[in-house]
Amino acid sequence: MAAELIAKAIRVKPNLTLGLPTGNTPIGMYEDLVRAYREKNLDWSGVRTFNLDEYAGLGPEDPHSYRMYMQRHLFDHVNVSPRNIHFPVEGNAYEKEIREAGGIDLLIVGIGTNGHIAFNEPGASFTSRSREVILTAETIANAQQHFGSNTMPTRAVTMGIATLLDSRHIVLLASGASKADIIRRALNGPVTEAVPATVLQTHPNVIAILDEAAAAGSKF
Ligand code: GLP
Repeated sequence: MAAELIAKAIRVKPNLTLGLPTGNTPIGMYEDLVRAYREKNLDWSGVRTFNLDEYAGLGPEDPHSYRMYMQRHLFDHVNVSPRNIHFPVEGNAYEKEIREAGGIDLLIVGIGTNGHIAFNEPGASFTSRSREVILTAETIANAQQHFGSNTMPTRAVTMGIATLLDSRHIVLLASGASKADIIRRALNGPVTEAVPATVLQTHPNVIAILDEAAAAGSKF
């Protein structure tokens, strides 16, 4: 469903500005987008992409970087132009790049089990902008699987919560039973900086795409 939404948006606006997530959740979405490029002529040549976050200190060539994740799952397989691909390295510079692109049209975002969106961990200010952050122990424990025996970074550069909310449309993705409790709190619970994803309740254009396991605890 998310891939269809993105494909439709690109066909309507060929120079669409997309905010893109990493993680296990969007892998199927990227597979479908690659298929749409190969089989349905979805043209990425004008699309501008801004990834939500990146580990601090990992170069683009590092196999564990989010840049490499994006190359593997999407960029290597579609006709996106390398000069239209953006990753956060320094907060203020990233804000400027997003502004100069005219803001983000469509932002796809996942959710951490502690309610983080991008790498805005619990307690992050709703007025925060792109910046370097320290990862929580829970986030590090969840991500360690991807690093094997390598030490993983404890810092990242992320879009801020206010940056995410400036996007014109937002799609929240969650799948699996491990997300049911946090999805219930994010969508039905009180809006609080202690659960960053609750801020999405204040945005006028949000679609949540959940599988049954992730939606199990929520009331709609
Ligand atoms: C990381 C990313 C987030 C992502 C989250 C959930 O923390 N920085 O942007 O939403 O993981 O990942 P997963 O989809 O693997 O559960």
